[in-house]
Amino acid sequence: QKERTLGIIKPDACGKVGQILDAIFQSGFKITKLKMCQLTRNEAFEFYQEHQGKTFFDGLISFMTSGPIVAFELMGVDAINKWREVIGPTDSCEARKGAPVSLRARFGKDNQQNACHGSDSLASAAREIEFFFPSVAAVRQNTAK
Ligand code: CMP
Repeated sequence: QKERTLGIIKPDACGKVGQILDAIFQSGFKITKLKMCQLTRNEAFEFYQEHQGKTFFDGLISFMTSGPIVAFELMGVDAINKWREVIGPTDSCEARKGAPVSLRARFGKDNQQNACHGSDSLASAAREIEFFFPSVAAVRQNTAK
């Protein structure tokens, strides 16, 4: 089943954009949208709303707003799960043990500074893609206000 998913190269890995994009192409994905930007605190809050209240939330917001990121839409068969496999387990230390070729193993540091993000379901992929790449209709509605 062809799917779309949302990926992010996080601030800690933005010096490795070339190598990470290479790995994405080699894994067979199509990059259908891409941009570099720096999130404001409000934007990071909204993007990570499901993690509000967790112990790591404040650190996560500081980290994700600390520098530029690269956000992209990937397309491919089973893209959501496949991209999560390519990036590996959340904690880069764990990834180095169990999935040494994964992007988090190669480019991340620990369970916060973990180089990459990937949507975890169809619903979050739809929300996250719309967050970074709002449809023309949504942009029109906002500018009309
Ligand atoms: P991500 O896939 O972007 O989704 C939520 C992020 O929160 C996660 O990657 C990590 O960067 C961070 N995170 C998850 N669990 C922890 C944790 N236990 N401690 C610190 N940061 C975490």
